[in-house]
Amino acid sequence: MPSLCLAPLRGLTDTTYRTTFANHFPGFDDTIAPFLTTFQGTRVKAAKLADVLPENNSTLPVTPQIISKDADQFIVLATMLHDLGYETVNLNLGCPYPMVANKGRGSGFLPFPDKLEKFLEKIMTSPTKLSIKTRLGRRDPAELNTLMPIFNRFPLTELIIHPRLGVQMYKGQVDLYSFARCLETSSNPVVYNGDITELSSYTSLSERFPTITRWMIGRGALANPFLPGQIKGEILPEDPVAVLHDFHAELFSLYGEKMAGGGHLLGRMKGIWFYLCQHFAAEEKILKKIQKTKNIAAYEQVVHHFFASSPAWSTTR
Ligand SMILES: Cc1cc2nc3c(=O)[nH]c(=O)nc-3n(C[C@H](O)[C@H](O)[C@H](O)COP(=O)(O)O)c2cc1C
Repeated sequence: MPSLCLAPLRGLTDTTYRTTFANHFPGFDDTIAPFLTTFQGTRVKAAKLADVLPENNSTLPVTPQIISKDADQFIVLATMLHDLGYETVNLNLGCPYPMVANKGRGSGFLPFPDKLEKFLEKIMTSPTKLSIKTRLGRRDPAELNTLMPIFNRFPLTELIIHPRLGVQMYKGQVDLYSFARCLETSSNPVVYNGDITELSSYTSLSERFPTITRWMIGRGALANPFLPGQIKGEILPEDPVAVLHDFHAELFSLYGEKMAGGGHLLGRMKGIWFYLCQHFAAEEKILKKIQKTKNIAAYEQVVHHFFASSPAWSTTR
């Protein structure tokens, strides 16, 4: 049986989403939380760690993720996470967004192998174990030729690879040829992540990479939350739309309690629908209607009518 990890999606897979997801849909073994940024000094606002507090994460095991280029600051935060009970933290070397990457963090760290090596040497003194989530490079998969030997110097719990370049953002194909090279050369356990959107995409990847036992899935599971269960051989419920309806109702209610101001709630629910609409036959129509709503009352009305109309839904798009 493969091990399946829910990918971190900042602004979407917070503790409320992760917990509600796990309460409604089987299949995921664990998850990585969206990244935490490091900070100067040794004090942190409580709100910053709220997403990874163990009491908020009892349903689905979580590993916190840190994005940073400052080793001392990384160690301060990793130590706090260790004190909360975490054995492992994940380092984000994949974030492609220019605001992050242009400052040499996330995938923006990858073109600086010497700096990265020194950074890794230093953070290895943290009390936590380390896993890494990376892309193939920032601009060129040839960056891997220097990066892989560096990763191999350190005993990582796992090396999660999203086989795109930072500059690609989420466009273009995943580069399975370069992923295969990483797999051949890695002395750390490798986890595959990227574009697993249907059972068939998982099946063909697992046939191509039979030594991979652990897979990370993000957008594909947000679009079809039954996907991890399907991969694990679970049978779909008789009425999947009813389960999706319940899932939505619980998310809407929990976010309503959590988020001050209708604007935040509306923004969050629109973000969720960007993915959740994708397996409905009326995908574009419903998304457009939802995106147009300007207040919570209008949103509730649109969603109510949509679910009341017995919308067609399928595991394939
Ligand atoms: C909106 C959004 C937010 C993301 N936030 C994070 C993040 O906080 N940390 C991270 O490592 N990856 C982040 N990612 C990348 C995903 O974890 C994942 O690597 C990527 O979506 C590819 O996997 P998928 O095709 O299964 O979605 C984000 C992706 C998206 C689309």
